[in-house]
Amino acid sequence: MKGIILFTLLTIWSNVDCTPCSYSPSQWCTSVDSAIECGVLKQCLEANATKPNTQVQPVQVELYFESLCPGCRLFLTSQLFPTWTMLQDIMSVTLVPYGNAHESFDGKQYQFTCQHGEEECLGNMIETCILNATGSHAFQIVYCMEASTDVVKAGEKCVALYDPNTKWDSIMTCVKGDQGNQLMHQNAVKTGALKPAHNYVPWIVINGEHTDDLQNKAMSSLFTLICSMWKGPKPEACGAAQMKRHRSYCHDE
Ligand SMILES: *[C@@H]1O[C@H](CO)[C@@H](O)[C@H](O)[C@H]1NC(C)=O
Ligand SMILES: *[C@@H]1O[C@H](CO)[C@@H](O)[C@H](O)[C@H]1NC(C)=O
Repeated sequence: MKGIILFTLLTIWSNVDCTPCSYSPSQWCTSVDSAIECGVLKQCLEANATKPNTQVQPVQVELYFESLCPGCRLFLTSQLFPTWTMLQDIMSVTLVPYGNAHESFDGKQYQFTCQHGEEECLGNMIETCILNATGSHAFQIVYCMEASTDVVKAGEKCVALYDPNTKWDSIMTCVKGDQGNQLMHQNAVKTGALKPAHNYVPWIVINGEHTDDLQNKAMSSLFTLICSMWKGPKPEACGAAQMKRHRSYCHDE
């Protein structure tokens, strides 16, 4: 691959009436400066863009949230989803609906209590079952619910819209049964294992790490943060105008 690029560049080099630059051909594309000096910026950018970048890991974003928290809904709908729509090639998203909920074991099943009441527990559970059952459509469906006036009521319509092959009955079987109970318990364990422990939601973890700085940057512009943290060649979208700023929290009592 390198050989082909070099050959292409040498061909370009020999075809262009140029003054020699101070870099050897193997260094032409190593920086933007050298590429400009040697008059091959366009070719280097093209070569860089098509070069497979298997070694660069996508930026991992985990969102710990609860279905009816206004700040969570705002972050998910106005930052996370639009950013993912544009940058899904360079980022991965994990949603954990649980947030400031609490659980106890009654000897048979886990019982959950939620910050915004029963309705929120139901919303969390529906989203958890959707995340388990609808694969690559799940984020769109959860977005659709969180963007709707009535989060819980929207579930059925959102599933029908984005994943017509999944029957609503199968989601509700999960919601009411042991599977949903176990999956929600896993969310509780995952949320409880956060280091540092969360004390508000939306709680954002980037590449396995939560700091005030990362949280603030993600809340101001997740889009800008993802572009700046991505180690590979910048996708075209990263050059585009920055996203709007929104922030709001729900604090754990
Ligand atoms: C090509 O990519 C490498 C590594 O990703 C980078 O260091 C270099 O600056 C890029 N070259 C140009 C001309 O953009
Ligand atoms: C869905 O949940 C079951 C356990 O109930 C698990 O075995 C399976 O891997 C989960 N699927 C996904 C896509 O998370």
